[in-house]
Amino acid sequence: MKHQNDNIRPVIWQSNQLHLLDQRKLPDKETMMVLEKAPDVTQAIKDMVVRGAPAIGITAAYGVVLAAHTAYAADPDNWQTLIETDLQQLAQARPTAVNLVWALQRMRACFATITGNPISSLLKEADLILQEDIEANYQMGEVGAALLPQDCRVLTHCNAGALATGGYGTALGVIRHGYAAGKISQVYADETRPWLQGARLTAWELLQDNIPVTLLADSAAAALMQQKRVDWIIVGSDRITANGDVANKIGTYSLAVLARQHGVKFMVVAPTSTIDMNLDSGDKIVIEERSNTEILTKAAQGAKAWNPSFDVTPAALVDVIITEKGVLKQPSTKSLLALMN
Ligand code: MRU
Repeated sequence: MKHQNDNIRPVIWQSNQLHLLDQRKLPDKETMMVLEKAPDVTQAIKDMVVRGAPAIGITAAYGVVLAAHTAYAADPDNWQTLIETDLQQLAQARPTAVNLVWALQRMRACFATITGNPISSLLKEADLILQEDIEANYQMGEVGAALLPQDCRVLTHCNAGALATGGYGTALGVIRHGYAAGKISQVYADETRPWLQGARLTAWELLQDNIPVTLLADSAAAALMQQKRVDWIIVGSDRITANGDVANKIGTYSLAVLARQHGVKFMVVAPTSTIDMNLDSGDKIVIEERSNTEILTKAAQGAKAWNPSFDVTPAALVDVIITEKGVLKQPSTKSLLALMN
């Protein structure tokens, strides 16, 4: 059942096609891109038609359905071998969000049980991944919002909302729930240089749901905290390692350092599909570097650019991680292990 303030679905399967809300065109235009082939899904993930860790994973799961469709039509006895190239390309579409390989592994786990035409079994699994993600967001929204005080002022970074997930959002799920419960009096969002996920996407989706939002330049967050105008930072994550280190959109780490300096609380909201128990700490995470054109559009000609898309916040700076399986206060290797077992 849909929750209050829950009207956006970025990934939809309809009539044997994958429909993606083209996030590059928001907030100016709401257009759906319709895909029928797995290589086009890989390209859409690379180009950020769809972005945000859980949404990337869900999209890749439907990409496997499309890959199997093509492969089964070509050779019904050999489809599992034929789709391998598509699967590998999907896995490499973006490196940092672990939900991508997590979703592909889940789809792969179905292969062994399939006899005959694989489409309905694979589609069922992809639908389940989508549904479970939305359910996890509802749950995390409720649990995260319960930790907020009355009249809470929150700051979020990037877009960890409905657009970044199956629906409802992780960080924005907490904000949606807290706002509906009358606990949140002010929502600030960093514009999120250089791709402007905050200004274009977070502001758009909150306003769709009539939740007022105040944007600020990323560099204004320090002054906001210094002036005691924010109580909680609430963000999502692309990968959380076994010790509780958190990879998220570039700029998250500076928020965490600032939060500690100013006595502001720092909450990370992420489903367990974002937790990577294979990496023991955040320094092992591959950080995607994107095109320097994202930085240089208004720069002096001849300047170079460094454009890491993510950074890593050490576990020690995180007050709480909210997952659908439990809450980790002051996360550590021990508490992560207990949660994941
Ligand atoms: O480069 P993006 O837009 O895919 O980065 C997204 C983020 O960093 C989000 O904050 C993160 O994926 C959490 S989404 C629920």
